[in-house]
Amino acid sequence: MLKGKKILIAITGSIAAYKIPLLVRLLIKDGAEVKVVMTPSACDFVTPLTLSTLSQSPVYIKPFNETDGSWTSHIELGSWADVMLFAPLSANTMAKMATGITDNLLTAVYLAARCPVYFAPAMDVDMYYHPTTQSNITKLQSFGNLLIAPAEGELASGLTGFGRLEEPANIFKILECHFEKAGSLNGVKVMITSGPTIEPIDPVRYISNHSSGQMGNSLAMEAAMRGADVTLITGPVHELPNHPAINIIKVGTAAEMFNAAIGNFRKCNVAIMAAAVADYKPVVYADKKIKKSSSVKFNLELVPTADILAGCGKMKKKGQVLVGFALETDHEIENAGKKLNTKNLDFIVLNSMRDKGAGFGYATNKVTIVNREGDTLEYGLKPKSEVAADILDQVQRIYIKSNLHRPK
Ligand code: CTP
Repeated sequence: MLKGKKILIAITGSIAAYKIPLLVRLLIKDGAEVKVVMTPSACDFVTPLTLSTLSQSPVYIKPFNETDGSWTSHIELGSWADVMLFAPLSANTMAKMATGITDNLLTAVYLAARCPVYFAPAMDVDMYYHPTTQSNITKLQSFGNLLIAPAEGELASGLTGFGRLEEPANIFKILECHFEKAGSLNGVKVMITSGPTIEPIDPVRYISNHSSGQMGNSLAMEAAMRGADVTLITGPVHELPNHPAINIIKVGTAAEMFNAAIGNFRKCNVAIMAAAVADYKPVVYADKKIKKSSSVKFNLELVPTADILAGCGKMKKKGQVLVGFALETDHEIENAGKKLNTKNLDFIVLNSMRDKGAGFGYATNKVTIVNREGDTLEYGLKPKSEVAADILDQVQRIYIKSNLHRPK
């Protein structure tokens, strides 16, 4: 499976580094070419000799050799790799990657890498949940880097919780899966709506919601990595993905999103509507700031916005795949099933409202997919990049099935 694939492993200073020789062995046994780059502090946890013996290649630590003056090109290493994996990734190096600090060879290679980058953090539970670490994870994800979330369990400190490096066998499977999927959506045009919309009340106020656009960004990145041509129509968000195959269209209101989406839908093969579109907008937009008055009540009259998903559902042609999202608080499956039919969808992704760590603003999500074939597929809590992969696996399956006998 991995024969000839070039994998660059970046090891940083965390006790979990002791697990990496095992991963290197698994990769080499499967035919991969492996190179290892380490931070100087990673060498305190695992020896470069072990890693160079197992990877059958020199290990790169410093930008230059102090005895003979020869230097290691971070650019060459970065462009050599088909995939780069940071495992274990310490909180310190993660912070450097998020801010572009390159004070050692490993972080310089990160900036030079042209390939997909996976990162597997490993640290103590409190460090992992610190807001700085969480926001750095979100930042790396917004660069298109793919999170291999830490597992829960006993930590080296004696504490128990999230922070354990994912097991080498599972990281190996993720890499195998990566190469299996690459190119699987070659030439397919995918449109994604994402983020919130904002409905202005006056020049300084608007109606909106807490959507961060992370789910839509992850879907766009996953589709692009599988070879699709992606159009991401997004409301105002803080982070946007960066990939040459992703064309970003920025919109503000539901009406702007509607126009962009309906215009693009005709040309696309797959549409995934992950946006949290405002269902209502003010009837009147006041072109001057509304002054407060002495009366106690202020009534804002609202009218419904156009339903973009339903609009696409009406236009849908044979062979096109249309996916919606739903956020329900009661009778979830039943309500999702109704939307599936009324909006003419292939499947609907039901967001959990019950689980901590799922939904708006979190890096993780927990979804259930209800499809037209009558299946209800429940998934566990995972990073949004993995949820995106689950959704695109389903898209791919349905797309292939519905285009099997269609002329090109
Ligand atoms: N959606 C849309 N255009 C709208 C409203 C929603 O395209 N004006 C899409 C969302 O992107 C999502 C799906 O419709 O994919 C479901 O949104 P949701 O708010 O859960 O459902 P609604 O159909 O708006 O119904 P309700 O709020 O009554 O549950």
